[in-house]
Amino acid sequence: MAQQLLSDKVNRAKFLVDTTAGNGKDSLFLAQNSPIDAMVWSFDVQQAAIIKTKELLSKYSLDDKVKLIIDSHANIDQYFNRRIDVAMFNLGYLPNAQHKITTQCQSTIAALQKILGLLSTGGVISIIAYSGHQEGYLENKAVQELLTSLPSNIFTVGCWSMINHSNNPPILYIVEKMRGEAYESTAPQ
Ligand SMILES: C[S@@+](CC[C@H](N)C(=O)[O-])C[C@H]1O[C@@H](n2cnc3c(N)ncnc32)[C@H](O)[C@@H]1O
Repeated sequence: MAQQLLSDKVNRAKFLVDTTAGNGKDSLFLAQNSPIDAMVWSFDVQQAAIIKTKELLSKYSLDDKVKLIIDSHANIDQYFNRRIDVAMFNLGYLPNAQHKITTQCQSTIAALQKILGLLSTGGVISIIAYSGHQEGYLENKAVQELLTSLPSNIFTVGCWSMINHSNNPPILYIVEKMRGEAYESTAPQ
């Protein structure tokens, strides 16, 4: 669903970020569907995730288009300072790996604030949050609080969830920057 909603923007994007590389599926989607001269940067704190992502990209000969970084997405500003057209967050832990290595409230909010500040006009962010585990519950709450507080004259934020599923199904947020005003977040971290 996130990929479907973003695909039109991805087709025209120049600079894209996968903030949680994981198994590489979103990085592959961004690399495959963006223009040939676009650049994708993908972050993950786990070496295993970076290796998996690299393997997947190699299979499709897309390694050159994606810069893989083993570091927290909270540090993205140490790697570039340019407008981001599309960013994807798929929060939580790597499927079939250690559940204790999961995205954390504080670093997720720090990354989201930095990306909001760098988002190009017309740029979009997708965030998939999983509130069914303890850290995910807090993280989703913080993400929702931050996104709800965004000025509506600059951003439009939508939220999509499966309302007939039990056990805390994932929640998808889509943020679009509608106007060119500068944005500096004042939300609490
Ligand atoms: C649900 S998985 C991502 C799935 C991935 N988007 C895909 O398409 O396969 C979440 C990933 O976030 C990573 N992660 C956790 N904390 C992080 C952080 N602070 N910065 C970057 N990645 C982080 C985990 O290591 C895990 O691989």
